[in-house]
Amino acid sequence: MRMERVISGIRPTGNLHLGNYFGAVKNFVRMQDEYDCMFFIADWHSLTTHPTPENIRQSVRTILAEYLACGIDPAKAPIYIQSDVKDVLELYLYLNMNAYLGELERVTSFKEKARKQPDNVNAGLLTYPCLMAADILMHKADKVPVGKDQEQNMEMARLFARRFNRIYNIEYFKEPESFHYTKDAVKVPGLNGTGKMGKSEGNCIYLCDDEATIKKKVMRAVTDSGPERLNQEKPEPIANLFTIMELVSTPDTYAYFDDQYNNMTIRYGDLKKQLAADINAFCAPIREKIIAFSADEAYLSRVAAEGAERAHERARQTIEEVRHIIGFR
Ligand code: ADP
Ligand code: TRP
Repeated sequence: MRMERVISGIRPTGNLHLGNYFGAVKNFVRMQDEYDCMFFIADWHSLTTHPTPENIRQSVRTILAEYLACGIDPAKAPIYIQSDVKDVLELYLYLNMNAYLGELERVTSFKEKARKQPDNVNAGLLTYPCLMAADILMHKADKVPVGKDQEQNMEMARLFARRFNRIYNIEYFKEPESFHYTKDAVKVPGLNGTGKMGKSEGNCIYLCDDEATIKKKVMRAVTDSGPERLNQEKPEPIANLFTIMELVSTPDTYAYFDDQYNNMTIRYGDLKKQLAADINAFCAPIREKIIAFSADEAYLSRVAAEGAERAHERARQTIEEVRHIIGFR
C-alpha cells in the first residue's frame, strides 16, 4: 500500500509566529517521518493583499528559512514555492468553472477579508478556496495539516473534489481531510486578551523575536485584577496565558501556576516572567537556525529548485489525467 500523501502551505505575509508553529508547522515536522509529505509557500495566495515585489521576495525567503529552522528536512519532505509550479494554475482554472458565486461569497474568510479591505475586494479573494483546493487536489493529498481557521477552506476543497467527480462521472479526486495529532485543532490565542494569535491582529510572538522583544510582549499582555474565588474558571486573557504556557512550558511549571491561580496566591508578574523565559527557551534554538539558513542563499535556492522539480513531476501527471477526463487531447 502506498503511503498517504500530505500537502500544506503557508502564505508568505511575514514571519512565522507561535500560532503558525503550533497550529501547523509542528505537525509538518512530525508528519514528514510518517507520510509522503510536501510543503510549499503560498506566494500566489498572498497577492490578494497586494504586497510589493520586495515584500514578496523577502517573505518567501524568510518562510523558507523558517520552515528549515523548524526542522522540515527537504530530504524527507520537499519544499517548493507555489509560483514555481505553474501546473496548479491550470487546475485552478478548471475548478473555477465548477465553483459558484453564491457559495464563494458565503465563505467566512472571504466576508472577513472583504470587510477588512473594502477597497480591494478582488476576484482572487473570492476564488481563494479554488486555488487552495487546486494546491491540494493537484497532489491528490489525503491529509492536510492546518490550523482550525482553515476548516472552511478544507470543506470547499472536499466539495470541489466531489463536484468534479460528479460532473465527469468518475471517482478521480479523493476528499482530503484536515489533520492534527491532537483531538481538536490547536488554536493559539493572542496576548491582547481576545481572539487568535495572527499577523493581522498585531498580537504575535514570532519565532525570530529576540529575548528582549519576547519579554516586552509578554510583560505587556492583558491581565485582570486576579482571581476572586478559589478554583474559579479563568477569564479569557488569563486563560490565554495559560494556553500558551501549556505549549511551551513543562507540565510541572504549568501545574505550579495553575495551583497558584486556583488557591488565589498567583502573582501575574511571576507568571509572565516564567512564560517569557519559557517562550524564549523554546524560540532560541529555532531563532539561531533562522539566522543561519537566511544567510545561506545558495542552499535556499537549491532547496526551492529541487522542491519545485518534485512537485512538478507529480502535478504534471494530475494535469494530464484531468485534461483527459475533461475532454482535452
Ligand atoms: P495568520 O493568521 O497569522 O495570517 P496564516 O493565516 O498565514 O496566519 O496561517 C498559516 C497556518 O497557521 C494555517 O495553517 C493556520 O491555520 C495556522 N495558524 C495561524 N494562526 C494560528 C493560531 N493562532 N492558532 C493555530 N493555528 C494558526
Ligand atoms: N489558506 C492557507 C492559509 O492561509 C494557505 C494555503 C494555501 C494552504 N493553499 C493551501 C494550506 C493548501 C494547506 C493546503 O494558511
